[in-house]
Amino acid sequence: MTQTSWTPPDSSAAGATLETFILEGMFKVPGATGAFTSLLNQIGLAAKLIANRVRRAGLADVLGWTGDTNVQGESVQKLDVISNDTFIAVLRRRGHCMGIASEELDDAVLFPHATGGYLVTVDPLDGSSNIDVDISIGTIFGILRADSRPITTASFLKPGREFSAAGYVIYGSSTVLVMTTGEGVHGFTWDPGAGEFFLSHENIRCPQKGNLYSVNEGNASRWTPGVRAWNEHVKSVDVADGRPYSQRYVGSLVADAHRTLLKGGIFAYPADTKSPEGKLRLLYEAGPMAFIFEAAGGSASTGTGRVLDVVPQTLHSRCPLIIGSRSDVATFERFSRG
Ligand code: AHG
Repeated sequence: MTQTSWTPPDSSAAGATLETFILEGMFKVPGATGAFTSLLNQIGLAAKLIANRVRRAGLADVLGWTGDTNVQGESVQKLDVISNDTFIAVLRRRGHCMGIASEELDDAVLFPHATGGYLVTVDPLDGSSNIDVDISIGTIFGILRADSRPITTASFLKPGREFSAAGYVIYGSSTVLVMTTGEGVHGFTWDPGAGEFFLSHENIRCPQKGNLYSVNEGNASRWTPGVRAWNEHVKSVDVADGRPYSQRYVGSLVADAHRTLLKGGIFAYPADTKSPEGKLRLLYEAGPMAFIFEAAGGSASTGTGRVLDVVPQTLHSRCPLIIGSRSDVATFERFSRG
């Protein structure tokens, strides 16, 4: 029998684990030291460990409240604590991460021994009020360069446009890690049998226009007249424009953002009279999501300006967040500006 040369069945995706994909990216960057690649791999490891715990949550006595409250005054669940501890334990290794700002911690955790030059912002388990009812939850992260010494809280207070990378993990019907270094947004689906994330969504592009809107309408009485007018607009009938839009709202940012990224439309958590700065946190919720949506060809707005230009005043600063298809975010801004 004659030996013939073998070609992979699918040259783009076959065998492309998260680690392989990140390594191949490093080889394309002249002079790359491997520190950034190694850090991204560590984040992938933390995601695997958290995914494993989330999958077993109902069986492993990790559901429920710890009895503590976090810096936002919210009740802390056991899985929040586990996920936060996992990130810190994994990222303090290898010396690439010099500090972490987490939703669960009042102050940043600094690693004085590290030399790798990167800082990580993270919401280790977003949407945790949904844990007990088996609804999708997630992890959101951003990576910043630590470009001055010594590292202090101020080192983290940079606008989102300065992220070197951002991503999220959705623990849903599948576990999917979506990340970008600013050029191309890619998704990797967890294969529990193989114990690996495999490339499943290469070069995600957010549709330019959608037909879904996602907002907590229970807040309508607190919105500005402009936001209320936008809400009426998306529900009004205009067949040529695809209206009325359908509503989808999970109440887990990662779930609402993931659907919006893949299917288009708009997710909005605007400022209101209860939360004049918005509800979502800039450094580890709104900022990373804005970075991802812009890299995927979508938009991210505060309602009046670019989310990625907002400079956080504290580690836990909040920001209105309107993300989605370019056309839909532009329509929101038109109403919001009045
Ligand atoms: P938490 O981490 O406290 O569960 O917050 C979840 C966030 C975010 O995931 C979601 O988009 C938003 O809060 C939902 O807020 P509302 O319940 O006010 O709609």
